[in-house]
Amino acid sequence: MKITVCIGSSCHLKGSKQIVEQLRHFIEENGLNNMVELGATFCMGRCQKGVSVSIGEKFYSLTPENVNEFFNKHVLGEI
Ligand code: FES
Repeated sequence: MKITVCIGSSCHLKGSKQIVEQLRHFIEENGLNNMVELGATFCMGRCQKGVSVSIGEKFYSLTPENVNEFFNKHVLGEI
């Protein structure tokens, strides 16, 4: 599974760096280093909401507050 986090300027301002750190932490904590790859991309053209994150063809809008929920549901829940 590959999770891609937008690090374009708008998402950067909304905390993409923090989101990446949180995701990295969750991945390590759950021993998923071999199963989940974390990548970065520039603007996905979805700057309106929170930090844009994609898994395959699906897009999500994350904030530092909902990363945990996202991880449980869309990463742990799909593995
Ligand atoms: S900067 Fe992230 S979607 Fe545009």
